[in-house]
Amino acid sequence: MRLTRVRATASSATVTVMGQLDGLNVLLTGGASGIGLATANLFVSEGASVHILDLPGEKLDAAARVVAPTGGSVSACDVTERSQVDAAVSTATSGGRPIDVVIANAGISSPAAPFTEYPLDAFERVMKVHVVGAFHTIQAALPHVPDGGSVIITSSVAGLVGTPQVVAYGTAKHAQIGMMRSLAVDYAPRGIRVNTINPGPVDNEFQTSFEERITGQSGKDANAIFDTMIPLGRHIPMDDIAHGMLYLAGPHSRNVTSTIFRIDGGMGG
Ligand SMILES: NC(=O)c1ccc[n+]([C@@H]2O[C@H](COP(=O)([O-])OP(=O)(O)OC[C@H]3O[C@@H](n4cnc5c(N)ncnc54)[C@H](O)[C@@H]3O)[C@@H](O)[C@H]2O)c1
Repeated sequence: MRLTRVRATASSATVTVMGQLDGLNVLLTGGASGIGLATANLFVSEGASVHILDLPGEKLDAAARVVAPTGGSVSACDVTERSQVDAAVSTATSGGRPIDVVIANAGISSPAAPFTEYPLDAFERVMKVHVVGAFHTIQAALPHVPDGGSVIITSSVAGLVGTPQVVAYGTAKHAQIGMMRSLAVDYAPRGIRVNTINPGPVDNEFQTSFEERITGQSGKDANAIFDTMIPLGRHIPMDDIAHGMLYLAGPHSRNVTSTIFRIDGGMGG
């Protein structure tokens, strides 16, 4: 089913079907669940063709059904493996299609531990998924991005302020902002915009399991403790982040680059 908004034109009785992303081709990592899946749903409803890169499994199979109506597809892909990213980009560009929007969103949580006890293997894995994964995704996609395209990296409020005991995640999310600023300068001459989106605590499984580890409480009790740390006092719905992605992908942000787009309830200070 094609879900697009319908507008009546002023000049005639005809009805024009329009989406903000009609005809755009989007490469999205980590789109099989959470923020990425919410973004895929919204982008399909706005007319985009969305190609999801994520780890294999039932969630990815279900995501294939979400993106099918506008000609999207999914690729089983570990973003830390360059050959897998290259293969997925080939699928997304088959027939010579450009990639108008790149979203490096795949991510994992990190263990919570004091720095002196922090496991190096976990530190390296978190850096690899968030930082090397974004590097592979954007580097593989860029040859297919036309002038005026948009690149979005999902960083975090943890990329803006220190979070106790999660040095891996905090380092990775700050590093993604450095990558964004470097690429924004490099690609501005071609009109390619590069921004991060920085969610605060989101109302989803990824964040709840993190909060349970940090607080030692379960579910809603853990969420309630985190609510007290957010100036607006509540977790952020995934759909709000998806609409932030829509803004950064769409025409209304055509003069926005090198921006840290916070949707964090004020938590980033
Ligand atoms: N949930 C939050 O509160 C929150 C806040 C700020 C930032 N973020 C960031 O948002 C992004 C999405 O997180 P989410 O909350 O939707 O969590 P999620 O776990 O629902 O989604 C993450 C997706 O990334 C995929 N992924 C993980 N490792 C991968 C790999 N090596 N290759 C390909 N795909 C991989 C997972 O399979 C999953 O589908 C992450 O970068 C996360 O760090 C989340």
